Amino acid sequence: MKWLNEIQVLAIVCAQWGDSGKGKLVDYFSTWADIIVRGTGGANAGHTICVGDQQFIFHLVPCGILNPDKINIIGNGVAIDPKMLCEELNILADKGNACNNLYISNNAKVVLLSHIVLDIVRERFKGRVGSTGRGMSPVYEAHVGRKGFVINDLLNPKIFEDKLERNLTETIMLLQAYQRELLNKHDTDIRRIMEELGYADFYSDTDIFDIQKMLQYYLNLGGKLASMVVDTDLMVQEALRNGEKILLEGSQGTLLSIEDGTRPFVTSSDSTIHGLARGAGLSAGDVNHTVLVVKAPYMTRVGDGPFPTEMGGTQSANWCRTMDKEAELRKFGHLDFVTAANELELGVVIRITGGETGATTGRLRRVGWLDLVAARYAMRVNRTQHIALMKLDVLDGCPQIKICIAYRYEGPDFRYGSRIFRNGDKVTDFIPASEFLKYCKPIYEELGGYGDISQMKSVEEMSRNEPLHDFLQFIENQGFTIDLVSNGPDRNQTILC
Ligand code: IMP
Repeated sequence: MKWLNEIQVLAIVCAQWGDSGKGKLVDYFSTWADIIVRGTGGANAGHTICVGDQQFIFHLVPCGILNPDKINIIGNGVAIDPKMLCEELNILADKGNACNNLYISNNAKVVLLSHIVLDIVRERFKGRVGSTGRGMSPVYEAHVGRKGFVINDLLNPKIFEDKLERNLTETIMLLQAYQRELLNKHDTDIRRIMEELGYADFYSDTDIFDIQKMLQYYLNLGGKLASMVVDTDLMVQEALRNGEKILLEGSQGTLLSIEDGTRPFVTSSDSTIHGLARGAGLSAGDVNHTVLVVKAPYMTRVGDGPFPTEMGGTQSANWCRTMDKEAELRKFGHLDFVTAANELELGVVIRITGGETGATTGRLRRVGWLDLVAARYAMRVNRTQHIALMKLDVLDGCPQIKICIAYRYEGPDFRYGSRIFRNGDKVTDFIPASEFLKYCKPIYEELGGYGDISQMKSVEEMSRNEPLHDFLQFIENQGFTIDLVSNGPDRNQTILC
């Protein structure tokens, strides 16, 4: 991988709906980097960090934290729940890691209890998007609505107090209106929701939140983080000038971006290269090389929203919404790639084999075939043709694989700018409108399965496996350049191309 010696800023961005294996790649490239920066999202993301022989799922602490020689940064675009971050830091401190290599942007957004409650209440009320309930939409909404909080506010008690009183007024009015509806229609109330969240003490009958308690609580948490808070934009820009190697760690995925994703079923930050670079203190123009992370030959989506290649279609979506891992194992645990009787069951086998359960919410991830229409779109949006193919080993034993190369539109007339799509039209360019995508049916190319590839170490070995070679060639013929192939969870199961 010669290009690695020639670049200074490398970005890792998921081409899909998240959960594609960014964590492994960030860990892999962190040995190359001097600085690792996270730029978007919040505790809605999740990755596993191993401390000794124990595994922890962290949401905010960056993936490179365990390497004391590397600087880790939580950038200005990240929404930080201070309670959760302190909990993650406590776990690491208990294991002897003081996280002296972690810096937090003074401009990172702050997730307060009020944002989390509003997120959960709205999700119960209005149309679901399958939010993780971590307060993302209220936080970013507050930010653009000019009533948000940044970490630096927590370092200035008077400023924070004034903002809290001022900025919470509207949220309280909104929640008071929801409160009546919740009681009438859902037989629950905000007090109960706060109890479930472990925030019962912060409930107030009159104002929903005990503002004085919130004030003390968040100032206290801010005090714990204070020594890590700096102007990280300046740090990163100086590092850029000094020729240090910078790794940008993306969150979620291109199709979940508020700007370019399948709205409204998206997260609330821009999870493309553009949001990532901005949220890390840089601009997309500073990035020399973006690697798009592509899980293949299957992919996943968690939460609601259209997913044209989903195995088992709406049946799968409903199953994943209502079932959990244990129930699935009880019913389908005996199946394998050969005994799966239909696509729904094949999806289940892939989910079980690939461990496709949400790291943040424990939800079952919906499984579908690799969608190259969407991947080509991600390539365009992120201005790169470089991809990393992840989790290829999961389909070991799958006799046949399918790759979606186009869609057939099967819905009412849909106008997209000057174009009108009619029932039966072939679609080759991805259109992120959910109202359109839900009527798109995949057109597949079928290839043979490639068997066990988990022990392969080189490009030469991969090309000797004919079906695997055909699969990789097929992808390259679509305009992608494969930078690496991941054929197992371990670092050494990574083949550079
Ligand atoms: P929110 O970001 O919690 O508001 O959730 C909005 C949508 O994005 C939901 O469908 C979530 O399931 C999805 N989502 C958010 N974060 C992730 C992630 O890290 N991986 C996959 N899906 C995510």
